[in-house]
Formats: sequence, C-alpha cells, structure tokens
Amino acid sequence: MFKYLRQDIRNLKSYVVNEDDYEIKLDANEGIDWIGGKNRYPNDTCSELRRRLAKKLDKNPNEFLFGNGSSELIELVMKAYLEYGEKVLAISPAFSMYRLYTIINKGLYKEYPLDNLMDLNVDGFINFIRQEKPKIIILCNPNNPTGTIINRQDILRIVKASDCMVILDEAYIEFSDLEIEDDTREYKNLIVLRTFSKAYGLAAIRLGYMIGDCETIEYINRVRSPYNINAMTQEIALRALEEDNLLEDNINMIKSQRERVRKGLEDLGLETFPSQANFIFFKGYKNLASDLAKKKILIRDYGGDLEGYFRLTIASPDENGKALKAIKEVLNEKGDN
Ligand SMILES: Cc1ncc(COP(=O)(O)O)c(C=O)c1O
Repeated sequence: MFKYLRQDIRNLKSYVVNEDDYEIKLDANEGIDWIGGKNRYPNDTCSELRRRLAKKLDKNPNEFLFGNGSSELIELVMKAYLEYGEKVLAISPAFSMYRLYTIINKGLYKEYPLDNLMDLNVDGFINFIRQEKPKIIILCNPNNPTGTIINRQDILRIVKASDCMVILDEAYIEFSDLEIEDDTREYKNLIVLRTFSKAYGLAAIRLGYMIGDCETIEYINRVRSPYNINAMTQEIALRALEEDNLLEDNINMIKSQRERVRKGLEDLGLETFPSQANFIFFKGYKNLASDLAKKKILIRDYGGDLEGYFRLTIASPDENGKALKAIKEVLNEKGDN
C-alpha cells in the first residue's frame, strides 16, 4: 500500500532487467560458457515460477514476489515500509529473526505475550496495536516456536483493526488444518509469506514467496536486489511444483509422526503444546538440550522467560524414534542422580 510506503521509496524506480529474446547477448557483461551452461544471469522475476504458482493458486502472476528464503522477504517488507524508529509489532514468543530484522532496519520491536497456553488474547492484542501504532505487524500462523494457531476470523479482525502493513507468515501452513485462504485482494495492507523450506523439504535451495496486492508487490520489488533467486533454485522449485502427490504424502507422514512424538513426550511426563506445524514445543527441564547434545541430538533450547521450554522438529520415523529413546534415557539418567 502506497499510504505506508517509506517516503524515499515513493519515487524510486526498480532496476529493470531486459528479458527480451536474443540471438547474441552483449548487454550484461556475462562470461562465456566453459563449465556447464550457467554463464547467464538467472531470470530476474522468476517468470515461469510466478506463472506456475499463479495457476496453482488461481492468482495473477503479478501478485507474487520471490525471495532468497522467506527470510529475505520479511526484510524486504521492512526495507520498503519502515522509517527510522517506527515500530514492528509481533507476538511473543515468535520467530527470532523478526526482532533481528527490525533492529537491523532501524525499527523498534514491540512484543505482545501469548498466554500460558500459548494462545493469543485477540482483544488485548488489538488494544496493544491501537496503543503502539506500529508501521508493520508480523503474525506467524501456525506460530514458531509454539506450533499454536490463530483462527482465520481472528486474523481478519486484526488485519481490519490495523492502520499499517500486516505480514502473515505462513511458513508452516501446509502442516495445519487452516484453509490456505488468500485475503490479500480484499485487504490491501495484508502480505502473505510462504516458503519451500518446510513442507517442500527444500531449505537448501533458499526460496520463499510473497503474495500481495499487485501494487504492493511492485513497491516491495523496488528494494529487491536483481537476480536474488539463482537459476538452480528456480529449476528445482519448478520440478517440486509438479510433485503434488509426493508433497501430500510427506505432509501426512509428518502429521502422523507429530502425533506419535507428542504422545511419546506426554508418556514421558512432559507437557506439550498442541502443534499444527512440523515441530513440537514442550516443557522439559533446564539442561535437557545440553544432555541430548551429548548424545548428538540437537533440539532448540530457549532461555530467559522460556527457560526449560524446547522445540523439537518432527523428522523421519527412524530419527523421531531415536530422539524419543534418547529423551527417555536422559530423563532416567537425571532421575538416577
Ligand atoms: C516462522 C518462520 N518464518 C520464516 C522462516 C524462514 O524460512 P526461509 O527458510 O524461507 O527463509 C522460518 C524458518 O525457520 C520460520 O520459522
């Protein structure tokens, strides 16, 4: 939305790459090919990916923007909209990069705490928005690290109550029961982010995408570096988009393993939170992560207010079994001391 755009971006023109057909290409100072046909810069606007995703999601190709992971896209929104000292609002706990990107982009990061069940008091959050008057709100749904969700009606209440840009980070949506809705046409201040790093299992290729109003996409594109998505990434993502059945099998496997791990942790007497993502947030004891690290099993440890809470990724059935076994062992060893 133009209304919220950074003043100095308002008249900026984006860098435009000439993607016309050619017989001889002498306009980009590329080297000549001697090692496997990768001498050309990649397609700058990911045109084929945009076309394919637009078809799949019944959208216009101009409603998409791609990033080097959805991480890059979070930062691009801040670059386009955040002026010095303006506020970014999020819930707490949330994805830790939100805070870092806000600070790097000279913003003020403000947090609204979830309740003890890791749910959001929506009325309280809306009051907080009115009080703080942010430039950007970031909501992660399902939320990382808690795995909990905010229902669609509540998300829309927040979007409608917000006089600013709202980023809805849907990195984990494929693992949830949430409908993959898209409200960015109706609510022009809403930006949805998705990623190939989670359900598609392609974190190595670094690819995320944004869905937004065409005008908003054009503004954010102004602050994107040219050629941010490399050619290999585009090729692999196009292949992945053809594998709907494999994707669905993978998601179903993760969901059933998530239930297995949740039950396994509960059977060991550990409190878990209901997760709709590919991880489980649970309460352990202070040194659980370091005890598991000695057995070469890494789980995510939290300090501060969340000391004693952990996040464990749902992996393959074999790995999940080994993780549960190791947790049982460290609990027993702790009991013996
Ligand atoms: C909530 C959330 N958003 C975004 C990201 C970044 O994902 P990407 O790999 O697409 O940069 C992550 C990664 O863990 C995440 O948890």
